[in-house]
Amino acid sequence: MPLIYQLASIGLLLSLISHVAQSGSPDSQQLSSQCQACSAIAAAFQRGLERTARDNFGGGNTNWEETRLGTYALSETRLVDITDRLCKDKDNEMDGVTSSECHAMLEKIEEDIEKFWFGAFKANPTSASLRDSVCVNGTAACCAYGRWGPECAPCPDCSGGRGDCNGNGTRTGTGACDCHPGYSGAQCSDCSAKYYRANGESNGECKACSPACRSACTGPLATQCDQCADGYETVQQADGAACVDIDECQTRSPCSGPRSFCENLPGSYRCGDCDRACSACSGPGQVGCTACSPGFEPATTGSGCQDVNECSPDSPHCTGPYERCVNL
Ligand SMILES: *[C@@H]1O[C@H](CO)[C@@H](O)[C@H](O)[C@H]1NC(C)=O
Ligand SMILES: *[C@@H]1O[C@H](CO)[C@@H](O)[C@H](O)[C@H]1NC(C)=O
Repeated sequence: MPLIYQLASIGLLLSLISHVAQSGSPDSQQLSSQCQACSAIAAAFQRGLERTARDNFGGGNTNWEETRLGTYALSETRLVDITDRLCKDKDNEMDGVTSSECHAMLEKIEEDIEKFWFGAFKANPTSASLRDSVCVNGTAACCAYGRWGPECAPCPDCSGGRGDCNGNGTRTGTGACDCHPGYSGAQCSDCSAKYYRANGESNGECKACSPACRSACTGPLATQCDQCADGYETVQQADGAACVDIDECQTRSPCSGPRSFCENLPGSYRCGDCDRACSACSGPGQVGCTACSPGFEPATTGSGCQDVNECSPDSPHCTGPYERCVNL
């Protein structure tokens, strides 16, 4: 075999091997969607339990049936009533799990669900959890809540809900705390930049500083900034020094060009182009004109410019026999 073909077939072999290795160990994306599907089924199962809580065998829930078949509550009939609707119940929001993903997972765990029903559930109907028994222990797709990653390691304490454990309840993730806005630190116990600790307590809530502050403050007001943000300046006011917005349009006319205008914004400004009706303007649109372009005249409403109707009845244009005047 020529060398080139040998190399090509080795390459093919290598790519086959790596492909097999990949499909042999499901990647984390797959694991996380399996866990999601199993968790959604477990949640639907819980709703099914609630839906069927008052049902019986459909009529004579007699002593004879109770002794003969066991009560409906623990019966195969109820199990079937619940599992039949796990993937098709319209009330069951499947939390981003498609119907085909649901059916694929259900097929995989159907036997485990049955084992759960006649085992853990029968032994302890009030506290047995399908998610724990089937999704965590059975398919190994999930971790128990409060655990994360391939080894289901315990999640850190994310300050009682100020953050979420990344990978919480799944075989994936980083196990770090993803802090909610305003919180930072490994356990989300610190306030982020531009937030302050409310109530003065060491573990109080973190709340947003005024947008006038650069990075830190002692409270929500523009008088409570450590330093002023860009576009703000310190101004002495009756209640003390405050960070006040700089009107860049007034202080330094930053928008050059004859047909542009300057608009002051909190902390900044914006330059815009005048409307075509204006030969000069102080703001957007025809109402922003301070002088009119040819073909436009000062508006009768008192501000800005409006189109001149060259076709008005006393117009000198288009007076020929077959002419019609169209105002543009
Ligand atoms: C899951 O498996 C562990 C270890 O085998 C066992 O201790 C635990 O009781 C099981 N949990 C459930 C809910 O079946
Ligand atoms: C993990 O998720 C459960 C269920 O949603 C939640 O109760 C728990 O607080 C979460 N734990 C962390 C550390 O995020």
